[in-house]
Amino acid sequence: MKIDGTPFRTIWRDAAGVVQVIDQRWLPHELRIVPLHSRNDFAVAIRDMWVRGAPLIGATAAWGVAMQMADDPSDASLAETWDVLHETRPTAINLRWALDEMRRVLAPLPPAERAAAAAKRAAEICDEDVEINRQIGLHGLEIIRQIAARKPGQPVNILTHCNAGWLATVDWGTATSPIYHAHEAGIPVHVFVDETRPRNQGAQLTAWELNSHGIPHSLIVDNAGGHLMQHGEVDMVIVGTDRTTARGDVCNKIGTYLKALAARANGVPFYVALPSPTIDFRVKDGVREIPIEERNGAEVTLVQGRAADGTIQSVQISPDGTTARNPAFDVTPAELVTGLLTERGLCPATEAGMEAMFGDLKRAMLG
Ligand code: MRU
Repeated sequence: MKIDGTPFRTIWRDAAGVVQVIDQRWLPHELRIVPLHSRNDFAVAIRDMWVRGAPLIGATAAWGVAMQMADDPSDASLAETWDVLHETRPTAINLRWALDEMRRVLAPLPPAERAAAAAKRAAEICDEDVEINRQIGLHGLEIIRQIAARKPGQPVNILTHCNAGWLATVDWGTATSPIYHAHEAGIPVHVFVDETRPRNQGAQLTAWELNSHGIPHSLIVDNAGGHLMQHGEVDMVIVGTDRTTARGDVCNKIGTYLKALAARANGVPFYVALPSPTIDFRVKDGVREIPIEERNGAEVTLVQGRAADGTIQSVQISPDGTTARNPAFDVTPAELVTGLLTERGLCPATEAGMEAMFGDLKRAMLG
């Protein structure tokens, strides 16, 4: 997508062969682009959320493997890199998907051939992500078009949670891709952006993206969604996913489950944008089987923002001594999901639906 008219991806290799990423910790106040060199750089960037969002975590890990192969293409280095990068964040399955994919391609090759093959596959993974998200957008566009046809002249109101926008992917975003496509098609859309405490990915990232693209939006506190749905102000919800199970349970940013409950109670369709590398066929019952990342309580007790003097600061919002729990994700059971918007089309959030649409990937994953 474009920043001030210039097309950007979230991760790319520059002309000198160095991987560059947007360091998302400073948005929306500063656009900082940083190089990643060593395996440790890549691990820190993922763990400390310079980059975040399931597809981008996977793409970054793929480039981390590629850069490490240029330094040391040995078997030991490949195995150690898989471990080092895999332990950075536990919930988004795209991380493991990308590491497995790199290992599948590289392990059979002689070490001397690995660096070139790894760079090629990492670049392909990025390009594939862009195309997957574009396809998700085109399928989602049709759903938005149907809703728009029922309310001529009025905007389609879409609620989204966290940032499942282009910053969470290589480009387009997952949940936002249908929105960008609808906007480009001339369909009036308006987005309710959940601020998404504790890290405020909605307030800081999704709002920045939509603002940059001139898409009408309103930032809301996380607790406002139910009220807006009760009053008929939300036509549909579209969220992303960090891991979707074989039966269609969806793990996404903490708070997604509450939005799904409110949507069901108010008859609002609840869609999940799902790229296929986010499916984990090894797990079925998301609530019991998906590891939920527990992050530092300081993310809850502190809030980051821009002060009047222009500096970016963290302020404490709770009493000294108050401790916090900070589960970063929750699971929305499949029965609350209206449909999974995938690159292959709209998939029912059921085991049979997943099997019918992605049986080939299931067999490839489970052997
Ligand atoms: O903790 P984050 O910011 O990495 O969490 C991101 C999300 O929960 C996104 O909704 C999810 O990764 C889908 S991104 C297309």
